[in-house]
Formats: sequence, structure tokens, C-alpha cells
Amino acid sequence: MISLSHLIVPLVSFILFIIFLSKWYCNPSSTSRKRLPPSPPKLPVIGNLHQLGLFPHRSLQALSKRYGPLMMIHLGRVPAVIVSTADAAREVMKNQDVIFSNRPKLSIIDKIIYDSKDIAFAPYGEYWRQVRSICVLQLLSNKRVQSFRRIREEEMSRMILKIRHLSSSSASYINLSDILVTLTNDIICRVALGRRYSDAEESTKFESMLKELAELLGTFNPGDYIPWLNWIKRVNGFEARVEKLARWFDDFFEGVVEEHRNRKKGETNLNDSGDETDLVDILLEIQRESNSSSPIETDTIKAVIFDIFAAGTDTTYTALEWAMAELLKHPKTMEKLQNEVRQVAGSKLEITEDDLEKMLYLKAVMKESLRLHPPLPLLLPRECTQDSAILGYDIAVGTRVIINSWAIARDPLSWENPEDFCPERFLNTEMDFRGLNFEYIPFGAGRRGCPGITFSIAVNELALAKLMLNFNLALPLEATERYCDMTEAPGNTVTKKFPLIVTAHPCSC
Ligand code: HEM
Repeated sequence: MISLSHLIVPLVSFILFIIFLSKWYCNPSSTSRKRLPPSPPKLPVIGNLHQLGLFPHRSLQALSKRYGPLMMIHLGRVPAVIVSTADAAREVMKNQDVIFSNRPKLSIIDKIIYDSKDIAFAPYGEYWRQVRSICVLQLLSNKRVQSFRRIREEEMSRMILKIRHLSSSSASYINLSDILVTLTNDIICRVALGRRYSDAEESTKFESMLKELAELLGTFNPGDYIPWLNWIKRVNGFEARVEKLARWFDDFFEGVVEEHRNRKKGETNLNDSGDETDLVDILLEIQRESNSSSPIETDTIKAVIFDIFAAGTDTTYTALEWAMAELLKHPKTMEKLQNEVRQVAGSKLEITEDDLEKMLYLKAVMKESLRLHPPLPLLLPRECTQDSAILGYDIAVGTRVIINSWAIARDPLSWENPEDFCPERFLNTEMDFRGLNFEYIPFGAGRRGCPGITFSIAVNELALAKLMLNFNLALPLEATERYCDMTEAPGNTVTKKFPLIVTAHPCSC
């Protein structure tokens, strides 16, 4: 005879299943009266999360080939629209930019960046407008980026010396990825904080915290999508890691701000490294001058500086690493680029930022690499602030919007042989990455587009030119296949999985 205890487990499971299903289908977002974008079938509770895989930009591109340029998926309970063509992106980021300029609330960001008091994740509104305008006008304007020219040139010289030293030592292989990480971190540290951290005592800690940040940002936290699974982050240690990191960053930035405040005013406006005023100085100056009715809080200063790091270091370094990887994989292209750089340098055997304007091929190489390898392939997520329609489909308020810039830049309708690395396609064309050509948006576009383009391009173009001028770089002859590997690493910023290992022969030209 079947006992009652045997019946209880299946009965409870059945009831729970019915509750899930009814909650799921009663969700107002699933209303059938609206014309929603096509959608792959979803599972109860998790929606389409299982279809994202380790490389969501690739999985979403594959799905969009079946379901179209505007596709609806469900990240757990969160409805999301995936944009995969230039026309759909133009609609979101230009024609209806105001409606789609909000960012969704993410728990990890709130925890680490002072309740999203930064620029990148602040909700669309007056506060964001204020901090963004400080950033655009005071921190990342053309004039300000120019004022940091000496820092860039000094750090480039250090990089060249380091590679020369390594190439003359017994180690025949050089880890170029490590060198490029240090270059970008050092430049951003000096510009933002006033000094390098790579040779200070805190260096190991600082670098490991930046790594931990990248890892946590790339970690899937089920509670963000399925609220009743929020407890998991407490059990699996995610919450504890986030809290520890938030404390560390806060102590660190608090120390930096204090250090700047304590610098004796009037003595000099140069800091320890002999640099001009840095970004913390500028923000403190704005704080001093802000009127008492809308003061700039110290948390805002820390959050903005945090953004410059989080948004500026990984992305800039990743763009440079992929460009070098493509050049090493295509020696003929590298030779053509070297010829251009060396011709412009001429008999002075040196290049400065002024020379970059004459290097059209260099600019084309950088653009083509950013087309194939946008460091943030899905940009940063946006959120719809009112019911609207895109390409004839209804989009409900609160829907998350994910723009697959990676897929857009490989769309065969916009690009000939889109998978090929071919810088020539950017010669003799006005096509640019500043957010006007929606076929090509590695920096996003519209109100929430990246304000750091000039900053990062100034670093990347100069670094590439200096490397081409000073060295003959190649992949190690043995096991070239292994070193040529272009596999991506999972994460929000898509870096190379394996570091770039090269041989470098100083050029005697
Ligand atoms: C190759 C380097 C870089 C790439 C590929 C990149 C890419 C992006 C992308 C895709 C976005 C989101 C745009 C959107 O939602 O439409 C963004 C936003 C942002 N980026 Fe960059 N970025 C780079 C370098 C930098 C640098 C160097 C800085 C600062 C020094 C910076 C600061 C920011 C900030 C503050 C935002 C948030 C803007 C907002 O939400 O209003 N980025 N970036």
C-alpha cells in the first residue's frame, strides 16, 4: 500500500510547480494584447538565462539570426529586449534616446559605487546630468586630455625602456599583455590620483582588487534576476566578497581624497610625481566652489574617480591588446603600419602625439580592431522609462535594453566580409566610432555614450605607434599556433583568454 509520506513529496512539488506557472503567466509583461518582439521559448523561473552561455554576445547573435533584429528574452523575471542591427540601435540611441537612457539598478554596483552615485550607473535624471557634465567638461574634455600629454609620453617611454631591457635579457619571450596593463593602469593612476601605484607598496593589493572587481562584475548573481533566489549570494560567499571589496575601495579612495586635501595649499600645484593638477584635485576644487544648496558630496567624488578606473582601465588596455594580437596574426598589415609610422618619424627617429594625425593607416588599424573586438560587446545595459514602440513592436516601461554592438559590427548587411581583419575598409571613409554611425558603436552612442573616447584613443594610438617604431615584434616561432590564440575570456569586458607572448627586437632604423 502507498503510504501518505510517499505522496507528500510529489504533491508539494506539483503545487509549487503550479504556483510558479501561474505567477509566471500572470506577469503583466506577458500580456498578449501587445505586439511584443519575437522571443525564443523560455523556461519557467529562469526564462532564457540558460541560453546566454559564457559568451552572451555570441549566443545572442546566434539567437537574433533566428528571431530578428529586435528580440525579447527573459533574464529570470527581468524582460529584456536585444538590439542586433544598426537600424534598431539608431531607434534606441538616437530617435528615442531620452526614453532609453536609464540604467537598471544592479545590487553589486549599488554596494560598491555608493548607491550608484557615479556616472555610468546613476539613474537618468538631474543628478546624472550634473556628474556627467562635470566629467565631460572638466575631466575628459579635449583640453584636459591634452593637458595630460606629458604623462602619456613619459609612461610610453617607460614602457619602451622596459621592453628593451627585457629583450636584451636572457628571457627571450615577453608577456606584452602584462606590459600593456601596467601602461594603462599607470597612466590612469597618474591622471586621476596623481601618482603611479605599480611601484608602490600597495601595488599588488591594488591590482588584485581591480581583478576582483572585474571578476565580480562578470559573476552571475541569480538574485538580480530571480528575487526569491537572493539568499544564494549570502550562502555562496558572493555578498561577502562584494562587501569586502566595497570596504577596500572606500578605504583606498578615502585615503586618496584625504592625501589630496592635506597637501599644503599654495606651496605648489605639482604633486609627488611632479604632475599637474590631477582629477581628484579638480573634483575637490569643484566641491569647494559648489554652492551650499547643491554641494558635491565626498561620496560623489569617490564614485566618479571609481568610474574613471572601472570604465577606463580594462577597456583601454583590452582595445590595445586586441589590436596588437590582430597585428601579430597579420604580419603584412603590421609591416604596412610600421612603414607608415617610420616614414612619419623620418630622420628624427621619434614620434609625438602631433605626428599621429598623419598616420591614417594607424587610425584605420585601431578602428578595425575595435570593430572586431569591442571591449564591451553588449555596451552597458539600459532601461526603458515609459511604454514605447521600436520597429513596430511594443516595449513596456521597465524593460531592460541590451545592445549587441559586437553583432552589429559583424552584420553582413552593413559590412563586406565582416569576419576579416581588414583596416583598409576604414581608409577613405567618414565612418567613425563617435556615435554617429550606428553600424559601428564600440563606445555606445547618444546621451549615455562613452565620454572617454578622446582619452582612450590618445593612449592607444600613441602606444601602437611607439611599439611599431621601436621594435620588430613577432609571435614566438615555436608553437606560433598557441600564441596566436584569439579565444576570448568570459566577462563583461571581453579580454583575450591567453596573454600575448611576443619576441621583440629593438629596431635600428
Ligand atoms: C577603448 C576604451 C573604451 C571603450 C571601448 C569604452 C566603451 C564604453 C561603452 C560601450 C559605454 C556605454 C555606452 C552606452 O551605454 O551607450 C561606456 C560608458 C562610459 N565610459 Fe567608456 N569606454 C572606453 C574608455 C573609457 C575611458 C578611458 C573612460 C574614462 C576615463 C570611460 C568612461 C566612461 C563612462 C564614465 C561611461 C558612462 C557614461 C554614462 O553612462 O553616462 N570610458 N564606455
